[in-house]
Amino acid sequence: MLPDPTTAPALKTVLSTKYGKPDFHVGVAIESDSITGVPSLLLKKHFNAITAENAMKPDTIWPNASPATNPPTARATPNFGPADELVTFATNNGIEVRAHTLLWHQTVPTWLIQGNQSTANNYRADVAQHMQNYIETVMGHFPDVYAWDVVNEAASDDPGSADGFRTDSPWYIAYSFGGKDGREYVRDAFYFATLKRTAMNRVNDMALMLNDYNTELPGKRANVIKIVQYILADSGRGTMIDGVGHQLHLQVGADASQVTAALQAVEALGLINHITELDVSLYADPGTCFSGRTIPPCLADYGASPPQSALSLQATTYRALFNAFDRTSVKSVTTWGLADNHTWLNSWPVNRTNRPLLFDTSLYPKWAFWTVVDPAIVVP
Ligand code: G3I
Repeated sequence: MLPDPTTAPALKTVLSTKYGKPDFHVGVAIESDSITGVPSLLLKKHFNAITAENAMKPDTIWPNASPATNPPTARATPNFGPADELVTFATNNGIEVRAHTLLWHQTVPTWLIQGNQSTANNYRADVAQHMQNYIETVMGHFPDVYAWDVVNEAASDDPGSADGFRTDSPWYIAYSFGGKDGREYVRDAFYFATLKRTAMNRVNDMALMLNDYNTELPGKRANVIKIVQYILADSGRGTMIDGVGHQLHLQVGADASQVTAALQAVEALGLINHITELDVSLYADPGTCFSGRTIPPCLADYGASPPQSALSLQATTYRALFNAFDRTSVKSVTTWGLADNHTWLNSWPVNRTNRPLLFDTSLYPKWAFWTVVDPAIVVP
């Protein structure tokens, strides 16, 4: 039987003690449904940091003008309201904020990549100016965050990629215009973020991170590391990067030793690690599931009552992962959601009931929670 939920210790306290780090960030990605009522109580008990699951993304923060104007890609005024609501909740409750994300290929309002295409140089100058304007304005609006995902998911999924870069990002494509080097958008993003951070006098306590998924896979990890090295090689003009955010959208039975290898690869460059989007799917899907996105090859839906065997395997997977995070370089762990009643995994890679987090749909601690906070707990 699960332990009495009223005896649950605070996750943030347990982890801070376990890792011997008084300033360790134990975060959770949320939307506005988590800042009132019972969810907010759970959040405040267990977490000392939040990330906006969506509210700080470019398509929310600074969309195109609507209704469409002429040109149809004019910018609106920034829309800080949804993010401000979360930040105000955090500030009022002594909770810190990890900011996600300045640039992401999935959320690029077209005004950001508009420009005068009469020459490659003119267009590049316009796009870079938009990027700098965006980064300065948005970073300036959230002066107290402890980290920014400066670029999200820049790396290619192709293990054979020569330079490691994803080439289908609108940013990469824009920067490639006229035969120029598309990779340079990542350097510019970190350069502009570095300039702004320095101007804000936050060099030592606002980390600038490159965030990506699948770093537990050797091929993808190699691509991410190549990009980090590419950014580091831009130090001549002062560009800085502090570390890598490992999303860690994992599934039951995930190999924690591969997570360790990812953390070590970043340490070898002298940088820090954040765990940024942790969840553990109940389904040990084959790789073909993520390209096909049908059942099969994705595993059949468990429905609302998953088998104990899956919940137990999830719990031991979580335990191994939190043990793997016990490294000097790991400064922050964020779960991608508070409880199983709100998770993106109910619609990815297929529509299917998933239960990937530490707390159940009624907000009670799961076996996964107990294995993390108590090494003596034996799962059924
Ligand atoms: O808010 C609108 C709502 O008004 C509208 O009716 C509805 C109809 O589709 O959409 C709502 O927006 C959705 C938004 O989540 C808020 O729920 C978007 O369609 C949907 O695309 C969006 O999904 C988010 C996704 O990123 C894309 O931005 C997920 O919640 C979020 O969990 C997911 O997070 C990403 C990380 O940022 C990066 N790493 C991978 C991770 C999972 O995909």
